[in-house]
Amino acid sequence: MTVHFIGAGPGAPDLITLRGLNLIRSCPVCLYAGSLVPAEIVAAAPDGARVIDTAPLNLDEIVEEIRQAHAKGQDVARVHSGDPSIYGAIAEQMRRLDQMGIPYDVTPGVPAFAAAAAAINSELTLPDISQTIILTRTAVRASSMPEGEDLATLGRSGATLAIHLSVNNLAHVVRELTPLYGEDCPVVVAYRASWPDQMILRGTLRDIRDKVKAAKLTRTALILVGRVLASEDFTDSRLYAADHDHVLRPRRAEG
Ligand SMILES: C[S@@+](CC[C@H](N)C(=O)[O-])C[C@H]1O[C@@H](n2cnc3c(N)ncnc32)[C@H](O)[C@@H]1O
Repeated sequence: MTVHFIGAGPGAPDLITLRGLNLIRSCPVCLYAGSLVPAEIVAAAPDGARVIDTAPLNLDEIVEEIRQAHAKGQDVARVHSGDPSIYGAIAEQMRRLDQMGIPYDVTPGVPAFAAAAAAINSELTLPDISQTIILTRTAVRASSMPEGEDLATLGRSGATLAIHLSVNNLAHVVRELTPLYGEDCPVVVAYRASWPDQMILRGTLRDIRDKVKAAKLTRTALILVGRVLASEDFTDSRLYAADHDHVLRPRRAEG
């Protein structure tokens, strides 16, 4: 018996991996985070499977479901949104499974930041503009941020920022980042990227709050901040430069 932690991807049902889908098809128990995992993906569970939305359950109740499946020798598909390694709360489940001696593995998924970049046809790393993406969030009542991971500190890097769980904290985001990135710095707010009701708002640190307010977005949105979002003035990468040879493209004989 194994618990399979599976990344469902950002929302579109065909953005789950084949491995993840095949595991869901094969497991007699499917526990899924209902708020962000699409129904079509869960529908792949076999006929008669025990399929449970864990959104209303606490950790003890989720672990109890797994314990009961383990006692019956039944594999469990534990389905999380996006990629489970980012804000997935899988570590606390794994710790309990370790204590109980229940084996598990992880199947990655397409994270929301990648779906947001795809929705705007953008590369988030551009030569000479930004070569670093910081995946982060802001503090809210239920979750504080470790010291040194506040936006004022992270923003000093000038890196492209992918800010999760913070659309309700946009005033704070704008206040912290404007002195560092400038009020004309491009911002994209991607709401439910890859879902049928996806909405993309483009703006700057100066006007993005008004746009988000007008659209009444309050959840499931990713905030991208950085000059890469509106740069056409970047140099081509060296990888494909005609005068650059490397092991897979050795210098061609001249003549
Ligand atoms: C609990 S975290 C889950 C992140 C997920 N594990 C991932 O890999 O992206 C939920 C937050 O991720 C972002 N998010 C998740 N799915 C999204 C989507 N389809 N479009 C935009 N943002 C999304 C939002 O910031 C949301 O508040």
